[in-house]
Amino acid sequence: MENSWATFGRDLHLDLTGPGGLRAALLRALRDAVRSGRLAPGTRLPSSRSLAADLGIARNTVADAYAELVAEGWLSARQGSGTRVAERLLPRATPEARRTRGPGAGPAGRADRPRFALTPGTPDVSAFPRTAWLAAARRALTAAPSEAFGYNTSHGRPELRTVLADYLARARGVRADPDRIIVCAGFLQGLALLSRALGTGRVAVESYGLDFHRAVLTRAGLHTVPLPVDERGARTDEPTALDDVGAALLTPAHQFPTGVPLHPDRRAAAINWARATGGFILEDDYDGEFRYDRKPVGALQGLDPEHVVYLGTASKSLAPALRLAWMVLPERLVDPVLALKATGEWQSGALDQLTLAEFLSSGAYDRHLRGMRLRYRRRRDQLVAALADHAPHVRVSGIAAGLHAVLELPPGTEDATLRAAHRQGLALQGLSRFRDPAAPPVSRDALVVAYGTPPDHSFAGAVDALLRALPPGE
Ligand SMILES: Cc1ncc(COP(=O)(O)O)c(C=O)c1O
Repeated sequence: MENSWATFGRDLHLDLTGPGGLRAALLRALRDAVRSGRLAPGTRLPSSRSLAADLGIARNTVADAYAELVAEGWLSARQGSGTRVAERLLPRATPEARRTRGPGAGPAGRADRPRFALTPGTPDVSAFPRTAWLAAARRALTAAPSEAFGYNTSHGRPELRTVLADYLARARGVRADPDRIIVCAGFLQGLALLSRALGTGRVAVESYGLDFHRAVLTRAGLHTVPLPVDERGARTDEPTALDDVGAALLTPAHQFPTGVPLHPDRRAAAINWARATGGFILEDDYDGEFRYDRKPVGALQGLDPEHVVYLGTASKSLAPALRLAWMVLPERLVDPVLALKATGEWQSGALDQLTLAEFLSSGAYDRHLRGMRLRYRRRRDQLVAALADHAPHVRVSGIAAGLHAVLELPPGTEDATLRAAHRQGLALQGLSRFRDPAAPPVSRDALVVAYGTPPDHSFAGAVDALLRALPPGE
């Protein structure tokens, strides 16, 4: 419709059709836009001159309509700040509406919102290196060729793949050729693409893991088979454990969530199985960069790049919101995965890829990781010391690496401890929630305590709340 668009920095759709002439139509359209919330309280409207020009109507028509709406209280006009949507028309959210906006959105959610969180999943996002990232973004955008702003290939930006190949070889022992790297929107997307590339069949998953990762596999038509996990990691050495499976999803550097590294014998067993059967190991290296007092465990992929798919992510090292991850693929999977990616979202955002490439090549990534390692290690030590002082009956494990620890509880106390934590305003998760329901039941009561999650200023409070929630010793 020719007279329906006005531009004042932002586009505003005004439908000037309907009975009663242009002035009446404009009044109706503006009232509708304010009433529906499309024009939020405080929004500055275009000057009567520019709106009139954009709509192709007389300036007086617009000025009259504005004056009338000011008189009615829909708009406000102040010298020097133009015409705005009146503040007092702010629609008051009903309690129902506030509840549906989700946590953190409104007063109604506040009562229930925990004061502290030690739940795994996110790193300390308050420590995102904003200044260094901005500087890298500025340099990356300045240097970017114009073609980077167009449609790119599904592979990912070559600048990023090239520096990733070097970084992964140096820091994680990955044998990476940039042509075999595909950039994806988080580990989750990588897993979804691989699931589809694998087709139907059976995939072994660790008996402790994330339910939504298992769901990605099953949604793609795969059948997941739980692989027992003990203090040496996944039982890849059990003779029948990997029978008839085409792939195994493992967290070798730091089993999620139990925190143990895959024992060297089991690493060898996994590789032998893959070689003997032609199966794939999907190596989830989600927090491989965070290691403290144990010898670094290199990527399994380094042992056999033709049978291991390496998956790394920026979600723990930088921020989950970046949705940036990378796969290093065996030769025979590159084309099938690229073809699948090209039928979906096609490419990951090129500007963040270029920024990450610059962040890596300038050394900012290594600096950030070194800083975060110190920070997380200090927290881990504080947690371990606090437990030794106040809850010596609680054994801590899985602390050599990563951003979380496992606290073993007296039998039968996990649920009650979680309820106690809730009363303390502490969000916490038990180990049982990570157990694959298809795995045989075990009686292991434990907590997965993500000391990496809270911002620095609330860490001590979170640990105090945890100590108050723990069951008393004998
Ligand atoms: C076991 C595990 N794998 C992978 C990831 C990373 O997932 P994504 O890259 O999709 O954010 C996480 C993050 O919390 C994780 O815990």
